[in-house]
Amino acid sequence: MISYTIVSNPTKEKYWKRIYELVITAEKWFNTPNDYQIWRDGFGEDFTLFIAIDDETDEAIGSSCSTHYRAHDGSEFLTASGMLFVDPAYRGHKIGMALADKFSVGCPNRSLIAVPSMSKKYAKTYGYDKIPEDNMRDIEIKVDKINLYLTLSPLVNASVRSANEADWPKIFEYDRKMLKYVQRDKFIKLYCTQPHSYYKIAIDSSDNIVGVCLVRCNHEMKSIYTGPFYAETPEIAENLFLSAVKEIPDLSNFDEIRLAFYKTSPTLEMLKKFVNDEDLTNTHFHYIQFTKEIIQLPTSVLYSVTENDCCYI
Ligand SMILES: CC(C)(COP(=O)(O)OP(=O)(O)OC[C@H]1O[C@@H](n2cnc3c(N)ncnc32)[C@H](O)[C@@H]1OP(=O)(O)O)[C@@H](O)C(=O)NCCC(=O)NCCS
Repeated sequence: MISYTIVSNPTKEKYWKRIYELVITAEKWFNTPNDYQIWRDGFGEDFTLFIAIDDETDEAIGSSCSTHYRAHDGSEFLTASGMLFVDPAYRGHKIGMALADKFSVGCPNRSLIAVPSMSKKYAKTYGYDKIPEDNMRDIEIKVDKINLYLTLSPLVNASVRSANEADWPKIFEYDRKMLKYVQRDKFIKLYCTQPHSYYKIAIDSSDNIVGVCLVRCNHEMKSIYTGPFYAETPEIAENLFLSAVKEIPDLSNFDEIRLAFYKTSPTLEMLKKFVNDEDLTNTHFHYIQFTKEIIQLPTSVLYSVTENDCCYI
C-alpha cells in the first residue's frame, strides 16, 4: 500500500521539476520547465496543479491540473483539465483516479483532451461524454524534412512580423475572438514571450491581426512545438510558419517539430507546401471531450492549438 498525499499548487519547485522530467521522458509530452510558473502567473487563482507526493520519499509521483475559465461578465464558462500522469513505477494503485477526481471539479461544462485508451474511462466515470467527431490529431515532422528555402508568393494586403509591446491589446482581442467568451490575456502574453520561443504575427493593411504563430523550443527533448497558430488564409499561415521556424537560431539542433490540430483544420494541406506527403504520416489521435456541451471550435483558421493542459485551442 502506497501512502501519498495530493497537494494543490505546491511551492517547492522540486515537485514540478520531477513531474516535468518524468512526462518528457516517459510520455514524450511537450512540456517545458517554465510551464508551471506561466500557468500560475497567467491564470492566478483559476489554475490548480495537483501533485501526488509519496509520503515516505517526499517525491512527486503524479499530477493533474485544472483551469477555470470565465466569460467576460465573470460567470463560469469552462473548466479545462489536463496533465493527468502517474510515475510508471506507481501505476495501478488508483493514484491516477484520485488525481482525476481532483481535476474533474469546477464549472458545469468541463473539458479535457484524452488519449484514445482513456477516452471511454473519462466518459463513463467522469461524465466527459460529449465528444465531437472532429477529434484532435498531433503530427511530428522531422526538421530536416522541411523545405525552409521555399520562396512563398508575397502576401497581398498583409505582412508578417514580430510583435511589439503596442500590439498586445490587438493580440488579446484576436485571441478572445477565437475563444469566444473565454479570456486568457495574461497567460497568452507570458506564454508567447517565454524563453526559447519565437512569435510572429500577421497584420493586414488596416493594422488588424490576421494570424499568429508561436514556436517553442525544448532543447532537452530536441523538439519544437507550434501553437497558438491561427491564420485567416492558408497563404498567411504558410508565411507565419516559415517565418517563425526560420527565427530559431539553432534550428539544426532539433529533431522534430510538432503541431496539434483538429480533423477539419487546414494544417496538413498547408504543410504539404513545405513537406513531402510521406513525411506527414506520423500522426496520433486524441479526443476532446466535454461534460455538458460541445464548444464549437474555429477549426478553419486553427492550424495548431496552444497546448492541451490548460487550453483546448
Ligand atoms: C492514465 C494514468 C494516469 C492512470 O494512472 P494509474 O494510477 O495507473 O491508474 P489507476 O490505478 O487509478 O487506474 C484507474 C483505472 O483506469 C484504468 N486505466 C489506467 N490506465 C489506463 C490506460 N492507459 N488506458 C485505459 N485504462 C487505464 C485502470 O484499469 C483502472 O480502471 P478500473 O478503475 O476500472 O480498474 C497512468 O497510466 C499514466 O500516467 N499514463 C500515461 C499518461 C496518460 O496517458 N495520461 C492520460 C492522458 S489523457
